[in-house]
Amino acid sequence: MQRYRDKVALVTGGASGIGAAIGARLVAEGAHVVLLDVDADGLGRQQAAETIVADVTDSAQVRDAVERTVERFGRLDNAFNVAGSARFGTVVDGDEEDWAWTVDLVLRGVYLSTRHEARVMQPGASIVNISSLNAHVPLYGASSYAAAKAGVEMFTKNAALELGDRGIRVNAILPGLIRTPLTAGFMDGGPIEKDFLQRIVAARAGEPDEIAGPALFLAGDEASYVNGTSLVVDGGWEITNYPDLRPVVHPAGP
Ligand SMILES: NC(=O)c1ccc[n+]([C@@H]2O[C@H](COP(=O)([O-])OP(=O)(O)OC[C@H]3O[C@@H](n4cnc5c(N)ncnc54)[C@H](O)[C@@H]3O)[C@@H](O)[C@H]2O)c1
Repeated sequence: MQRYRDKVALVTGGASGIGAAIGARLVAEGAHVVLLDVDADGLGRQQAAETIVADVTDSAQVRDAVERTVERFGRLDNAFNVAGSARFGTVVDGDEEDWAWTVDLVLRGVYLSTRHEARVMQPGASIVNISSLNAHVPLYGASSYAAAKAGVEMFTKNAALELGDRGIRVNAILPGLIRTPLTAGFMDGGPIEKDFLQRIVAARAGEPDEIAGPALFLAGDEASYVNGTSLVVDGGWEITNYPDLRPVVHPAGP
């Protein structure tokens, strides 16, 4: 498929994991792609895309990256705001600086990216922000991350409302557990991995490309009437939130 032929796309966090998968799919579908990331080495491993080393928490760097994209390719059609990470720490004992660092990256990073991208976009353009299932489900020891991802979900709706008169759509994806360097610590074959997988109806973690597909759908013309919404892509994890009664409840009853 070449749904993105000659489109110009910017992907933040494009050096790894979900961002890299979105970038690769966009290239495969014919887009001119710019990957933005703080990780220069990771960017160097991505193929067939332009790369810019920049920090999404630095407004001037994001603005310059967007301007360079437009100078290079003439416009910006689609933006994917993927960059994110977390420093863990409980509410009572965690480090206050770590809490602020995470919220700054996850929430303000998406705000700054959306702000500078939207300023140069034309009607028909679109933005996809990567939130998390943790916008809906708390993550023990990472209140900063979960609260900031909930913020990304609401920010996306607000941005869709405000950018409507510019003809720009803004949507969010809420991934569940996806196999990337970010989640490697949860997927070491230990008891935490087993606990996670028991709650996922698909009984496995997702692959980065399984987020890239829905992301390209939401950003593209097939989703022209989809705006300000959130798409949970979690292999059916959110729906198992209720205590797992499968061992005691059968189709005919307990
Ligand atoms: N992997 C999952 O299970 C999962 C689930 C829900 C949400 N997410 C979200 O998806 C996004 C991508 O995560 P991933 O799993 O691919 O992780 P990843 O670590 O593989 O990729 C994240 C990328 O963001 C970049 N980055 C970090 N800080 C940055 C900054 N200040 N400026 C620019 N780039 C920066 C990193 O260098 C890295 O390349 C994140 O927002 C993450 O919170 C991931």
